[in-house]
Amino acid sequence: MNSDTQLDFAVDFAGRVVNWQQQHGRHDLPWQKNRDRYRVWVSEIMLQQTQVGTVIPYFERFMARFPRVADLAAASSDEVLAHWAGLGYYARARNLHKAAKQVVQEWAAEMPAEQEALLALPGIGRSTAAAILSLTDGVCLPILDGNVKRVFARHAAIAEWTGALKTQKQLWALAEARMPADDARAYNQGLMDLGSQVCRRSKPLCEQCPVAGDCKARELGLTAQLPSPKPKKVLPQKSAAFLLLLNSDQELLLQRRPSAGIWGGLWCLPQYDDKAELKNALRHQYQNLAEPQPLAPLQHVFSHYKLSLEPYQLSLGRNSKMLTIAEQNERWVPFAALADYGLPAPILKLLNREFAALDLA
Ligand code: ADE
Repeated sequence: MNSDTQLDFAVDFAGRVVNWQQQHGRHDLPWQKNRDRYRVWVSEIMLQQTQVGTVIPYFERFMARFPRVADLAAASSDEVLAHWAGLGYYARARNLHKAAKQVVQEWAAEMPAEQEALLALPGIGRSTAAAILSLTDGVCLPILDGNVKRVFARHAAIAEWTGALKTQKQLWALAEARMPADDARAYNQGLMDLGSQVCRRSKPLCEQCPVAGDCKARELGLTAQLPSPKPKKVLPQKSAAFLLLLNSDQELLLQRRPSAGIWGGLWCLPQYDDKAELKNALRHQYQNLAEPQPLAPLQHVFSHYKLSLEPYQLSLGRNSKMLTIAEQNERWVPFAALADYGLPAPILKLLNREFAALDLA
């Protein structure tokens, strides 16, 4: 698109949102009456993590008790929190109270009308400041709350997670480019209404959407996939070798794990960093030169990493030289007794797989 078409597109986008808002948007929410910066500010903070329907009675009660910013500033924190009880995320109420005191001291109890001044108050970020100024005084500043991010991420088919810093920048650039030169109030309210009523997280009502005609997500059949959920952490992959050493009485060698580290203090199969270390231990610790048999690895996922358990089995013949186990932290354990040892879950799984007939608990 050249810059003229871009401009036409932005005007057309905003025009459709504004028309839709006028016909189908919300017009009689309590904070839309007697609009002032204080009331809209309180409503925006309440609406940050909470649905409109839940907020309405809280807002009415809050305003009945603290009708002006000076009333809020003068109240005790207990009373402010009591009026917030049930809305959750109490840092919002503490910030609101702190900010009200700041407005009384620094702004003679009048909510400032400049974005910079609002941004200096605790709990007010770029989108909240823009909402306060556009919904009251019609100042042309773009907003970007969670609902609006979803509208833009779908309309422009932005595939990356909207919380990523790079994506945030891209979304703000988009929000700025589409911001109309007038009708800021209807436009911003329209975007919020669209986000919560039409462009819903699940089952969006695209037939009712004024910007569905050029919505990229809709064109690509991606409305269910976008916006993308927060990517899951990629867990590092580690591996460890485990020794299944059986004696001629069909007993299995267990070792108690050191108290630090995974499975601290639990009884377990002898564990080594890798096959080389395991063979080394067989040679030196157990005086056995036979080749252990590798078994199929088993994957286990911990909260911070994935572990591939690489088991090696060795059965000692009746005449094999070893092995009086004298150490306090090593034992020959008959299969029947294994269940008493509180083995780690993936080790039990491994033993069950290899010795299914044993039916270990
Ligand atoms: N969510 C956040 N701000 C809102 C507002 N002003 N109206 C409706 N929903 C909202």
